Amino acid sequence: MRRIELGFLQISDTAKANVAEALNNNRLSTGKFIQEFERLFAAAHGCKHAIFCNSGTSALQIALAALKEKYNWADGDEVLVPALTFIASSNIILQNNLKPVFVDADPVYYNIDPLQIERHITPRTRAIIPVHLFGQSCDMDPIRAIAKKRNLKILEDSCETMFARYKNEWVGSMGDLACFSTYVAHLLVTGVGGLVTTNSDELALMSRSIMAHGRDSIYLTIDDDDNLKDNQALRRIIERRFSFVRMGYSFRGTELEGALGVAAMQSKDAMIARRRENGRILTEKLKSLEEYLQLPKILPGAEHSFMMFPVVLKPGLDRGAFLDYLETNGIETRYLMPLLSQPYYRERFGPIENDYPAAKHLSGQGFYIGCHQGLKTEDLDYIAHVFAEYFRHAKLPA
Ligand SMILES: Cc1ncc(COP(=O)(O)O)c(C=O)c1O
Repeated sequence: MRRIELGFLQISDTAKANVAEALNNNRLSTGKFIQEFERLFAAAHGCKHAIFCNSGTSALQIALAALKEKYNWADGDEVLVPALTFIASSNIILQNNLKPVFVDADPVYYNIDPLQIERHITPRTRAIIPVHLFGQSCDMDPIRAIAKKRNLKILEDSCETMFARYKNEWVGSMGDLACFSTYVAHLLVTGVGGLVTTNSDELALMSRSIMAHGRDSIYLTIDDDDNLKDNQALRRIIERRFSFVRMGYSFRGTELEGALGVAAMQSKDAMIARRRENGRILTEKLKSLEEYLQLPKILPGAEHSFMMFPVVLKPGLDRGAFLDYLETNGIETRYLMPLLSQPYYRERFGPIENDYPAAKHLSGQGFYIGCHQGLKTEDLDYIAHVFAEYFRHAKLPA
């Protein structure tokens, strides 16, 4: 039986050579590969800085901590986050001693609904975290207009979206800071890993420091005390290199992930082009089933990188039965980002799902399947065939 997996991994010859070189360099802490990966990744997203760390969650945690410090937020201040997202988008608010305030999802595009944001703003609201889910940017113009009017900061959670534009601006470049994930089954994969991007020199430096235990930014890589021109400079470094100026974490990555990242940048355009084409073909092939399925829509003016292919079953159809059938036929699935119904969130926030009807519907009836560059025409034909067979005999509930 054919297997249609959610993710795809192909370690290129360049990746293998880069990893071998990193090992031969006898260097695991930040060096040429991480630095090169950061440079390439920042440039690809129209950003001045990218900071590589050990996960997307770490990136988000660092970025929010940097904003909290810079703008002097108090514990318990509020941050808006969509009611439909991966749990890390919201956990990092709690981990920073801030309060997540949930905003309903857009029922058509699945990202945070800009029309629902303002009613959740209070005198303690400090920031919005728009999450670019499944490969597509949020509708950033209205979000930025609200943020400007109400003096809120923007932290983009772009862990699921890379190399995609919204009206000619890159995801990752539209807020104060943004975060990406390079975890397995994401777009550009390094195994574990994440990046913070920003155009602010100050936030970049703070992020690096927070990533490395809150260390004085005079010494953030082991090269920073090499090639100093005079003794005074050396003395200054010796005095400050073991100095910790803020609360921090140990979230650095290694040269091995950097080596994979540099190699993956070479094939990013082909990877994204193939995903876009797969997304287009699948949408086309499943169109005749729109009576039963809500298919992904591309926001006008936006590009979709199709990290996944989200599908929402029409109300009344039995998602459990359909997913059992897909998995039995080799098509791997996941639920569409349920957040408020997670056991921990229910316990912590109570039964608040009914306050978010769009997120409740999407997470109750939605799921996603793979849309990656490893899928060939025959795989897409197979998916369309398996879906069609199920609905050939289905009846919509009255
Ligand atoms: C929307 C979103 N935010 C954050 C993360 C966390 O990324 P990571 O798994 O690299 O920590 C993920 C991914 O898994 C995600 O999908």
